[in-house]
Amino acid sequence: MSPQTAKKKSAQKKTVSQKTVTKKTRKRRVATSTNNVKPKLYANLVVQLLSLLKDEHDFVANAANFSALLFNSLPNVNWAGFYFLKGDELVLGPFQGNPACVRIPLGKGVCGVAAQQLETIIVPNVHEFPGHIACDVASNSEIVVPLFDGERLLGVLDLDSPTIGRFDDQDAEGLNELVTVFVAHEEGLE
Ligand code: SME
Repeated sequence: MSPQTAKKKSAQKKTVSQKTVTKKTRKRRVATSTNNVKPKLYANLVVQLLSLLKDEHDFVANAANFSALLFNSLPNVNWAGFYFLKGDELVLGPFQGNPACVRIPLGKGVCGVAAQQLETIIVPNVHEFPGHIACDVASNSEIVVPLFDGERLLGVLDLDSPTIGRFDDQDAEGLNELVTVFVAHEEGLE
């Protein structure tokens, strides 16, 4: 390669790399890596949950360990636990956090609405949710994820946070995957 060709190639290389790392791209890279934080955390939690459930057949013990895993691994969470469907109301199950109300009728509070509508509900600000049931004055946002055994509603997983807007679609996706793993394990034991 002649020195001139080498010089030209190096100039081309420089141009390409300059083009590649524009301010915009750098920003996008940072944004992408930030967006991966929650999916990675939830993927790791799936591994930990599977390890906690392995060889254990007690439903209450498994639900208790699941809630402790969430409470201790997810940042800015002040309550994590279950309400199980009994008749036409939800009854408190294993949880971590302050003592909570024991019974929630279907359609009442965030939990009761999620159970009635059979869908995940994200509440960025609980003080703006009509009928929100306040169990802990520290709670400002909430996510409730229904648990299904096939089509049948088993109950809900509820998480509270003192931070407004703490939960987003990535939390909804990650928590739905975790409850699916949890229920699938329990079904496998029957
Ligand atoms: N806030 C819930 C009640 C349960 S506690 O948050 C633990 C609700 O409105 O259904």
